[in-house]
Amino acid sequence: MKPVKNEAIPSFSDTDLELYFFTEVLKLGSLHYGCWSDGDDLTLDKLRKAQARYTDTLLALIPAERMSILDVGAGVGDVAEAMFARGHSVTALSPDKNHAKYYQNSQVIFCNVAFEAFESTEMFDLILMSESHNYFDTEIGFQQCRRLLKPGGYLLISGKFKKQPTRLYHRVVTIEADYIRRAREHGFELLQQIDITQDVLPTLQLARQFVDDYLVPTMGLVDVYLRSAAPWKARLMKAVGKLLLAKQVRQLNPMLGSLQEHVDVDRFQEHLTYQRLLFVYAPYSLSRSMQVRP
Ligand SMILES: C[S@@+](CC[C@H](N)C(=O)[O-])C[C@H]1O[C@@H](n2cnc3c(N)ncnc32)[C@H](O)[C@@H]1O
Repeated sequence: MKPVKNEAIPSFSDTDLELYFFTEVLKLGSLHYGCWSDGDDLTLDKLRKAQARYTDTLLALIPAERMSILDVGAGVGDVAEAMFARGHSVTALSPDKNHAKYYQNSQVIFCNVAFEAFESTEMFDLILMSESHNYFDTEIGFQQCRRLLKPGGYLLISGKFKKQPTRLYHRVVTIEADYIRRAREHGFELLQQIDITQDVLPTLQLARQFVDDYLVPTMGLVDVYLRSAAPWKARLMKAVGKLLLAKQVRQLNPMLGSLQEHVDVDRFQEHLTYQRLLFVYAPYSLSRSMQVRP
């Protein structure tokens, strides 16, 4: 099956630049929002602790017996490693070329591939999508889960949903109620739902602080330096850059735009929720027409 390219996500040779920023610039060992405790200061150190708490509370939703788990959109592998450490056998996948190196000395099996294109003869007990279910077409995602999950297996989602349809937040492609309804149509019964919106919001506040305190002044500094050190060269670079890097310059705007969108706490709360959904795959409850495996 051909991967569906999400045009909203700027990439450079199959590397997601936003994710690259988190791992290579901020040096975070996790790519998810984290779960903050009341009263935590807004620091990178506290973000790391919140991310560890996110992983712990997520894993607490996984049944204790040893399971074969497929971690879809596994990022740099911290959640996959934590599941492996608890005795589960774990296959992780991510299409990002920058992620393969994180699994080099790992006992987690890593596949550098998009979920839509993933093929396996193995059937899994649980499929996890931690902040990855918005990266691919929802329908194809459910079809893949039906193909890859054992009957009675689990689907665990943790991530953002729209409350209602809106043109804002184009990278969040799922609407909560619609997603749960479509899951049911595919034979996934909702066992547990936890709203953790309030626990993830401080990450946005921290990001906002980072943008205001560092990113904006740094971009200003570079601009001032170029214009004062070599004014005519700066103008020439701008003109030539516009011609030669037209596509890349166009891509900067959606990236900065989506960054600004994501760091606005009020806007986030108005349009989005952050949910954890645990489903059990019960194909026997499907109507006959839906029972044929895709
Ligand atoms: C925000 S990160 C989440 C990483 C990790 N699950 C976590 O909770 O920290 C999103 C992940 O989804 C991956 N991804 C992007 N497109 C995908 C696709 N089509 N199929 C599977 N994963 C995808 C990204 O490469 C990245 O690994």
